[in-house]
Amino acid sequence: MSSIKYKRILLKLSGEILGGEKGSGFASATLRDIAEQIKEIIGLGVQVAMVIGGGNIVRGDGLSHELGIDRATADYMGMLSTIINAIALQDVLEHYNVHTRVLTAIEMHEIAEPYIRRKAIRHLEKGRVVIFAAGTGNPYFTTDTAAALRAIEIKAEILMKATKVDGVYDADPNIVKSAVKFEQLKYLDVLKRELKVMDSTAISLSMDNNFPIIVFDINIKDNIKKIVLGEKVGTLITGR
Ligand code: GTP
Repeated sequence: MSSIKYKRILLKLSGEILGGEKGSGFASATLRDIAEQIKEIIGLGVQVAMVIGGGNIVRGDGLSHELGIDRATADYMGMLSTIINAIALQDVLEHYNVHTRVLTAIEMHEIAEPYIRRKAIRHLEKGRVVIFAAGTGNPYFTTDTAAALRAIEIKAEILMKATKVDGVYDADPNIVKSAVKFEQLKYLDVLKRELKVMDSTAISLSMDNNFPIIVFDINIKDNIKKIVLGEKVGTLITGR
């Protein structure tokens, strides 16, 4: 049997991914596919934590620009949408008999447990998927930053950033046909080249803590499993 490279992971999903092709609302096939992939790695004994975005429901920055809604208010609306996504994903995972706990950074006792770091770690040790909702609980921070923060806090071994492309390219591969994919990148290069992979706060937090990130295509079946088993998938971002 192949050995497991990453025993505790943090998987970051954008809200748009839950929305499938449309990128909005929920795509049931995508939700089922993600749940199946997670069930498989839980079966291997991997501890799985997740951070979910909210862009399929509300995009904080978009609302702020387009409607002139105050940025902090728009960000809180975005955080609420991540809670909706977290409980949707929780329900889908439970249909697959995967035990889950949603922990929210904005207290909402009737709906989910509050975020307590030590509780999160205990849930992971018991084999439950821990879904972190409401980002960091603060405006002006993205869910990518929440993912980096939580990954470091719970001592995960890797931050797996799910996207719809198979890694980081030097230009948008959907527009520039000759775009080249990076196998590996340094945090500083992501920042210097302004590669639109994660926002600079998330990258700097990871850099300061030397925390590795893999950017990969979640729509390719078995990619999550391949990564936890140590296969080369997507782009690895590290200090070296
Ligand atoms: P153990 O400590 O391992 O027993 O963890 P547990 O999560 O099974 O125990 P607990 O009694 O804390 O939780 C039982 C159920 O209640 C789980 O589904 C939790 O997610 C849920 N739960 C716990 N605290 C809260 C809360 O503050 N709000 C909501 N809505 N649910 C909660």
